[in-house]
Amino acid sequence: MRMLNKHAGIIATGSYVPERTLTNEYFEKTVDTNNEWIISRTGIEERRAADENTATSDLATKAALNAMEKSGIKAEEIDLIIVATVTPDFGFPSTACIVQKNIGAVNAAAFDLEAACSGFMYGMTIADSFIRTGVYKKILVIGAETLSKIVDYTDRNTCILFGDGAGAVIMAEVEEGYGVLATHLGANGDAGHLLTLPAGGSRMPATEQTIKDRMHYVQMDGSEVFKFAIKIMGEAAEKALENCGLKKEDIDFLIPHQANTRIIESAVKRLKISKDKVFVNVNKYGNMSAASIAVALDEANEQKCLKDGDIVVLVGFGGGLTWGAGVIRWKNYGR
Ligand code: ACO
Repeated sequence: MRMLNKHAGIIATGSYVPERTLTNEYFEKTVDTNNEWIISRTGIEERRAADENTATSDLATKAALNAMEKSGIKAEEIDLIIVATVTPDFGFPSTACIVQKNIGAVNAAAFDLEAACSGFMYGMTIADSFIRTGVYKKILVIGAETLSKIVDYTDRNTCILFGDGAGAVIMAEVEEGYGVLATHLGANGDAGHLLTLPAGGSRMPATEQTIKDRMHYVQMDGSEVFKFAIKIMGEAAEKALENCGLKKEDIDFLIPHQANTRIIESAVKRLKISKDKVFVNVNKYGNMSAASIAVALDEANEQKCLKDGDIVVLVGFGGGLTWGAGVIRWKNYGR
């Protein structure tokens, strides 16, 4: 239930993806796979990969500047930057601090958060709370990843799934009845082992052996994550709707995490929503983890899929395991 009289909404969106494209045909040459398998099991046709000189903050900065340019909001007006990522430039300083420097947001506090593919939903929820409590007025929430840096390109189970990109939103106070109506976040640490990056942290610092054992790359039990995803996408969306007294019949547009078309289809089935109300771009970008929902939201906005007054539901799941959903009554705040 909403306890405060301020209301937070998304007043601008932006995104950026690197130019280099890895097609399914590329993977046919590097691992034992084929275009038909990848498309039928995942819906992915191609994904983007940053070059060796490009880090997550570079993509995040471009997405942020894109949102600022489209909205006319100046760097000095931003008072908090949240970057959701599992591929920070460094252990520290945070990627958010690097973005703060790059865009010249001298009045902003800045921090990273890590909730894997649910990171953008966690970031949006935190920003919503800070705006409703009056702590901050204009918050830049960015989901940004260079998963190509942590994917094992010899492992066909994972390498075909992931891509690089960044999406950004600017959140601010909006009029009553619009903006974020409710969110729902969840986690199940018991199942964290299903999706991990084992080495490089304090549990398993980098050694010659960890490098030899390829422990600095993503490891995933794909079929277990798949089962979890199918269950949680619909459930999380319904919980967020419940939190603002709405039902699945009220959804005008759904922007799900872009991991796999079969996972998206199962959510669509459970929510009984027609396919033309669902945004899909996983075919172009693969799974960009924390960036997926943010990039999809910007593309949906740019393609004018979102109308004033629409009930827009965002929902995602990811490593942790984690999940998150948000319900927004959309309004276009113009350029
Ligand atoms: N090409 C050909 N065969 C492959 C490939 C490939 N690229 N990858 C795996 N296979 C094989 C496996 O080796 C396995 O073979 P085996 O049975 O001989 O051992 C078989 O295909 C597995 O087939 P399925 O069980 O039919 O595969 P499934 O339908 O489960 O699809 C997939 C696999 C796409 C990975 C699916 O499980 C999935 O999408 N899981 C969820 C992944 C996901 O969304 N992760 C989110 C990450 S979120 C984050 O926080 C980063």
